[in-house]
Amino acid sequence: MPDTAIADTFTVTPIGNGFGAEITGIDLAQASDEELAALAKIYRSGSVMAIRGQTLNPDELVRFCQTLGTMENHTREQFTLPGYPTIYVLSNKEVDGRKIGVHRDGLGWHSDGTYLAEPLDTTVLYALEAPPEGGNTMLADMHSAYEALSDAEKAELDQIQSLHSFVFLIGQLDPQAQSVVTEDQKRRAPDVVHPLVLERENGARSLYLSSGSIREFVGQDPEASRQRVRDLIAHSTRDEFVYNHKWEVGDILLWDNRYSLHRATEYDDKAYTRLVYRLWVNGETGLAA
Ligand SMILES: [Fe+2]
Repeated sequence: MPDTAIADTFTVTPIGNGFGAEITGIDLAQASDEELAALAKIYRSGSVMAIRGQTLNPDELVRFCQTLGTMENHTREQFTLPGYPTIYVLSNKEVDGRKIGVHRDGLGWHSDGTYLAEPLDTTVLYALEAPPEGGNTMLADMHSAYEALSDAEKAELDQIQSLHSFVFLIGQLDPQAQSVVTEDQKRRAPDVVHPLVLERENGARSLYLSSGSIREFVGQDPEASRQRVRDLIAHSTRDEFVYNHKWEVGDILLWDNRYSLHRATEYDDKAYTRLVYRLWVNGETGLAA
């Protein structure tokens, strides 16, 4: 099997029970197309991948992400890296009195981009600076969480459609902001409906949830729907379903938003700096496997 031979050039350590893999012993800046295709295949067989020990410039980071699919631009351009509209900056740092990135983002369990017409595929994070403690990224395995439900509850949830709303999400994040969402923004981000349970090509099913963006289940009471979402998130984020990534400088962490939830943890932002690049990718692997 050629894949085995290629995988022998780096080390693959499973994360969770089929949830993903940690990769060591590869330099993505020097990796061959065959190695990158092998990595993409390993990633697509699960939902999360942590790649340790990288030193990449922005072009090399974008090249790696392009092996996973098509890059997505970010909506808040003021926090993208100058010259790189696909690289969004997460940081507590200020340069010349200006905040260079978004700080205190994503502290609640969520999935990126559920309010988009096509559910967002992959988020990639790359750490250039990381606090020695805190600032972790936690990921919950929504396939294992689904499988742990009773057959009766699975059958019920399989039938539910969720209404995701960008305008509703903004209101949850900042009650003041909802009133200033413009008609143009509303038109560009209309409410969308996605199944509560997504099924992969291999038949594996996952709960598709996010804090804040589900306004209601179609045909159900909105408040009861949102309470059910909170209950399902509490179930899905129990320790047994969660991978807790402790960052080291040079780590890349990527996950599939369709089959996982994630959240950041707090850190001492007075004592430490954090600088992380975030990229969004849509579509299946761009390289032949
Ligand atoms: Fe996020």
